[in-house]
Amino acid sequence: MAGYLSESDFVMVEEGFSTADLLEELTLGASQATTGEVAAFFVADLGAIVRKHFCFLKRLPRVRPFYAVKCNSSPGVLKVLAELGLGFSCANKAEMELVQHIGVPASKIIYSSPCKQIAQIKYAAKNGVRLLSFDNEMELEKVVKSHPSAKMVLCIATNDSHSLSHLSFKFGASLKSCRHLLENAKKSQVDVVGVSFHIGSDCPDPKAYSQSIADARLVFEMGAELGHRMQILDLGGGFPGVEGAKVRFEEISSVINSALDLYFPEGCGVDILAKLGRYYVTSAFTLAVSIISKKEVFLDQPGREEENGPTPKTIVYYLHDGVYGSFNSVLFDNTCPTPMLQKDGDCSCLSHSPIWLWSKETILGAAPIQQQPVGPGGRRL
Ligand SMILES: Cc1ncc(COP(=O)(O)O)c(C=O)c1O
Repeated sequence: MAGYLSESDFVMVEEGFSTADLLEELTLGASQATTGEVAAFFVADLGAIVRKHFCFLKRLPRVRPFYAVKCNSSPGVLKVLAELGLGFSCANKAEMELVQHIGVPASKIIYSSPCKQIAQIKYAAKNGVRLLSFDNEMELEKVVKSHPSAKMVLCIATNDSHSLSHLSFKFGASLKSCRHLLENAKKSQVDVVGVSFHIGSDCPDPKAYSQSIADARLVFEMGAELGHRMQILDLGGGFPGVEGAKVRFEEISSVINSALDLYFPEGCGVDILAKLGRYYVTSAFTLAVSIISKKEVFLDQPGREEENGPTPKTIVYYLHDGVYGSFNSVLFDNTCPTPMLQKDGDCSCLSHSPIWLWSKETILGAAPIQQQPVGPGGRRL
């Protein structure tokens, strides 16, 4: 182990022991008296994150994964991913501080927001973070003044019209403006070292990756013509976080591999990376909430004839968490969480903070950690 995680960071459980089993035990142990006093809480299966990582390495062996910290910056997630050797994609100073605080070296951090505050560019310069993104001239000017040794990655726009979140509205230079940006960078003696894109999160069309990889090839050629040493291709995120996604990870990875073989064949000397968020964490987290109230409501059907019998009714359940809290992805990402009823009644719990589960099976199965298993052996809660 690289020393990011310690035994006190998680609860090790026996092979086969799941989040559902843990919740059942907590529910059984909780008394009626504690209901209502305890906040909603997450159980995170760190083993699920590890399994996702090995699946990624298997399907996309040429791609080096980075983790987009904004997606979930819980210390357990960051430490496990650091332990697995990932790099980190940070959108601001707070995220850079967070990963540096757990010991991640600056060489493994990308400051990936194309639009940055000058003070935060200076922070990156002072703390050794050299790889930065840009998509406009103003950023180049800021970097010339505040971080002259930066290595810049040009973020290009994508066709993200089918994706759930449209990042190219905010970020990404059009192909038309790339030559001009690359020329200006050269004039200002700013090193451009690569190209990045993000096809938008939860994209249902894997062809968006091949199109963007083809666009990136064009920009690589423009950059090389102008004397930039183009050596990094960053495929961004957009990979599904759950099993039942519209497009399976296997399908996406096979489209990406074919496009890479065509435009960036093995041996071309380009370091290919991706900045994944949802892929790593979505399915690992389970939120436990209590139902605090329920009521019967009539289904409003304008124009409905009274004589058609009784008005249909439904039951509305109220939870002690909502869209301004843990369910914000319902508003921002149109997600539709799947409820699972805990069969033993109230779901009051014993903890206010996240509970990190890690199965013995996962630890022993994870190659980089295998030589030195954590802890004295599996402990069942
Ligand atoms: C610049 C950047 N890279 C990567 C990601 C991660 O995207 P995803 O969760 O789709 O993997 C995000 C998320 O919004 C992002 O803004």
